[in-house]
Amino acid sequence: MKRRQFLLTLFGGSVAGSLIYGAIAKSKNQYEPVLAKSPASNPPENNPTFTDPTEEPLVRFAAIADNGFGSLDQMAVAKSMWETYQQKPYPFVLMAGDNIYSYGEISLAKAYFEEPYAPLLKENVKFYAVLGNHDIIKSNNGLDQINYPLFNMSDRYYSFTKGAVNAGTVEFFAIDTNSNAPWEAQLGWLDQQLAKSTALWKIVYGHHPLYSSGRHGSNPELASKLAPIFAKHQVPLYLCGHDHGYERSIPLDGTTYIVNGGGGAPLYKFGKSPQTAFVSSQFSFMTFDVYQDKIITKAIATDGKVFDRAIITKTI
Ligand SMILES: [Fe+2]
Repeated sequence: MKRRQFLLTLFGGSVAGSLIYGAIAKSKNQYEPVLAKSPASNPPENNPTFTDPTEEPLVRFAAIADNGFGSLDQMAVAKSMWETYQQKPYPFVLMAGDNIYSYGEISLAKAYFEEPYAPLLKENVKFYAVLGNHDIIKSNNGLDQINYPLFNMSDRYYSFTKGAVNAGTVEFFAIDTNSNAPWEAQLGWLDQQLAKSTALWKIVYGHHPLYSSGRHGSNPELASKLAPIFAKHQVPLYLCGHDHGYERSIPLDGTTYIVNGGGGAPLYKFGKSPQTAFVSSQFSFMTFDVYQDKIITKAIATDGKVFDRAIITKTI
């Protein structure tokens, strides 16, 4: 039986999420984790004695990428997401592409999206997707996913705002980083929208990394398009996937770049680059607590443990 058939059989039907997770917990992961590289340094924010603020954040959210693989590893990450949610609920998740392997087929959304995240969806947690390279192959160039209600995409690129206006809001800019994206229109839109945004924090996410030490590596062409816009508008955080593992950069011209591609597809080996602050290729997801003066980021493994945390502050 092929893997996909097996997983559809295993996860199809009306099996409750908790039962699925129970079964998965007893399963061995299909892929051996790639050994984590030690941090480039031991930043103080990564110190185990770091404690979270007692006050509630303005906005809390989670993020995944490269997750829609239909693998036991995806289910293990989903289980960890659910367990984290039960301790500290987050109302939405940024999903940074390769939402449905291998070709973006919307017919697989039930097996590769609705079933793995069923407990979160039942709690009305919203997923905001962008298109990865796999998502545009057999999906009418991504249109099938854009039109799929549970991905909450209003277009190939779009923005949305969270948080209370009187306390401080976060505006998210979801972009299409595929080579066939409408780049000219999109870059003009991004520049204009960032300029006119009144949000306290502006966060951009897309599928492809500008800077990465993983298999695909850094993308100078993408960096030449986006990095000047991020610097101009002091975007503090760019989130992506595509390289299957986790890497956080030091701030580059005010922007922290995070590759968060350990959502379920087979892991890649990562090296280390001058911009690397922390790297570890393992199955994982992230949570973010946004405050007036800082964003606390956490990378969380399948066992629920935080293996990297950082504090992002404003540079101006
Ligand atoms: Fe990708």
